[in-house]
Amino acid sequence: MADNDISATERRKRMNLSGKHLLVTGGAGFIGSNFILYLMREYDNLCITNLDKLTYAGNLENLRGVENDPRYRFVLGDVCDRTLLQSLFAEKQIDLVVHFAAESHVDRSIRDAGAFVQTNIGGTLSLLDAAMNAWKLDGGYRADVKFLQVSTDEVYGSLGKTGVFTERSPLDPHSPYAASKAGADMVVKAYHDTHGLPVCITRCSNNYGPYQFPEKLIPLMFTNCLRKKPLPVYGDGLQVRDWLYAEDHCRAIERVLLDGRAGEVYNIGGRNERTNLQIVKTIIETVRRLHDPSVSEALITHVADRKGHDRRYAIDASKIERELGWKPLVPFEEGMERTIRWYLEHEDWLAHIVSGAYEEYYRQMYGESAS
Ligand code: NAD
Ligand code: TYD
Repeated sequence: MADNDISATERRKRMNLSGKHLLVTGGAGFIGSNFILYLMREYDNLCITNLDKLTYAGNLENLRGVENDPRYRFVLGDVCDRTLLQSLFAEKQIDLVVHFAAESHVDRSIRDAGAFVQTNIGGTLSLLDAAMNAWKLDGGYRADVKFLQVSTDEVYGSLGKTGVFTERSPLDPHSPYAASKAGADMVVKAYHDTHGLPVCITRCSNNYGPYQFPEKLIPLMFTNCLRKKPLPVYGDGLQVRDWLYAEDHCRAIERVLLDGRAGEVYNIGGRNERTNLQIVKTIIETVRRLHDPSVSEALITHVADRKGHDRRYAIDASKIERELGWKPLVPFEEGMERTIRWYLEHEDWLAHIVSGAYEEYYRQMYGESAS
């Protein structure tokens, strides 16, 4: 392609991320793996180290397509392991940290919050210290470095029927998961305010798309539709979430890496509010149309509500739209269709997960087998 054929956005991408080395934590999880696959498609000339502990949620199958790519390497390890972190920063000149690694499931945090505090707060602190020590120069930091904390709208708590979360909404987390993410965000902000570390925090709404672990609403309901098992809707099912296709989240993170201002928070969301019942009905309708006409709404089963269940989330993403020119590209109907098709085409992926430890979790959580 001749140089003058390159769009302004393309040129900026080549300028700023080309030649960079990214440390991505939690890259074997749902959004982290989507992010690595996305960046490696978009850029020829960047390197990624993926540090992941491979908890139950980490899955190297997600990264099969890049595992032999010389631009990519996987490191098995814990974000709480300070010695390991120090050696990773010493071995390679890491320019950017994108911190996804976390315990991420609200229901698990209700049962046992320990790992959430340890990984989400303790792990973030270890990573901040390692980045700060590696990037420090006399009187400042290396140019063009950035620590991006991938956070969630759940730190803002719950909304009533109206209103949206802005970056200025107070932090009011309810679940242990949300509290641990809010705690981590505060430590990240403190490292900016106290030590001048160049950080950005992104707070995204609920994601959906390929590679999401089946404990979460959309893949869980899809899996149960395939197996004609009850679809366990918590309480009245009228709780509202603001859904965003994972690749749109990845593009937002890319924008913040490129142009986000240090010390700033950016909300990310799709302006796509749906009740849980609407989501479940969309999944049923899509599975009926694409795969099995005998699946029906009769499978919907209302079960006991989640403790402390947040009623409604909705994101005002106007700051990232205005300042960084991001907007979601994948409409909800198209994203759901792509997602359901992906799961239908990757039954093996699902089958490998819906066994072993997940089977035990499902039995404890829902009182029956997952398969
Ligand atoms: P996920 O549970 O699918 O993946 C988490 C990954 O982190 C896994 O690969 C796991 O092995 C790894 N991990 C866990 N503990 C670790 C540790 N101590 N050291 C190293 N690796 C560890 O999560 P996800 O849904 O992909 O979420 C990724 C990030 O995005 C999280 O920080 C989450 O809070 C945030 N987020 C998620 C959503 C969503 O809808 N899923 C929305 C907004 C923000
Ligand atoms: P989830 O995917 O766990 O995401 P989060 O709690 O982080 O928003 O849940 C999304 C919504 O779906 C939430 O309101 C809880 C509800 N839900 C059910 O009704 N049944 C289920 O089996 C699950 C996993 C979730």
